[in-house]
Amino acid sequence: MDINGKIALVTGGAQGIGLALAQALKTAGAACVVIADLRLPDLMPFGVDDARVCDVSDAAQIAALIDQVEAIHGPIDIMCSNAGIATGMDTTFENIAFADPAVWDRAWAVNVMAHVHAARVLIPRMKARGGGYFLHTISAAGLLSQVGSAVYSTTKHAAVGFAESLAIGHRDDGIRVSMLCPQGVATPMLEGIPDGPQLGDGVLSAEAVADAAVEGIRTERFVILPHPAVAEYMRAKVDNYDRWIGGMAKLQRAMKPG
Ligand SMILES: NC(=O)c1ccc[n+]([C@@H]2O[C@H](COP(=O)([O-])OP(=O)(O)OC[C@H]3O[C@@H](n4cnc5c(N)ncnc54)[C@H](O)[C@@H]3O)[C@@H](O)[C@H]2O)c1
Repeated sequence: MDINGKIALVTGGAQGIGLALAQALKTAGAACVVIADLRLPDLMPFGVDDARVCDVSDAAQIAALIDQVEAIHGPIDIMCSNAGIATGMDTTFENIAFADPAVWDRAWAVNVMAHVHAARVLIPRMKARGGGYFLHTISAAGLLSQVGSAVYSTTKHAAVGFAESLAIGHRDDGIRVSMLCPQGVATPMLEGIPDGPQLGDGVLSAEAVADAAVEGIRTERFVILPHPAVAEYMRAKVDNYDRWIGGMAKLQRAMKPG
């Protein structure tokens, strides 16, 4: 998609990858970039045209957000569902399913259902307008796995499933989809989780990841892998799933206390 002159909405845009993405879209020529987040920065960040409070786990709040943005700024061409949470990190490896059901529910709501809520509202509108773009920030954990968090791995895998359905289901409507699947990115989220294999191939800046995302939108690539090694790991996984499980278990063994 040619980003020039387009209107974009970025969730989780107050910091980290979302903010860098908003700014990269503006630099790439977007006419209007709106960010949405639970809490907004005191000052409007450089390159951002509007900022709105929204809890993306709530379908009614996303619907109201999209209505407001379209009423004020015009039709959303690029919907970036980027907000996400990394919770349920188990550092003891005693019980990989240990997280409280409320933790699972919240991760499901933010990492998966928020994408569904936005798409539910925008698909009919984009179809009527002849097309549109969804960028879903997922993670390499959605393609491979996050050693130490079944919550994060499972919800990010589900997000991959939804992105695939969206891309397949609406290709003929002119709707394009990309999923952004980095490993470690230097953001407040990464600082808040235990060290692990996500650091193994280097930590990228949010700006580098945002640039990769913009390039992926321009070239309409479904899977955007800012860490190229992820493609090799995916190939290894498909080639021999059992060997891959064994390798991941070995990584976990190395991370176990003691
Ligand atoms: N940082 C990494 O290493 C990394 C790697 C792979 C994927 N990701 C993914 O990238 C995305 C952005 O992560 P980040 O590293 O910038 O994280 P971050 O925590 O720095 O920023 C996430 C933003 O999302 C917002 N947010 C969280 N829940 C929300 C909700 N319910 N409604 C609205 N906003 C909400 C937060 O307030 C925050 O501003 C996430 O989906 C994350 O899973 C991050």
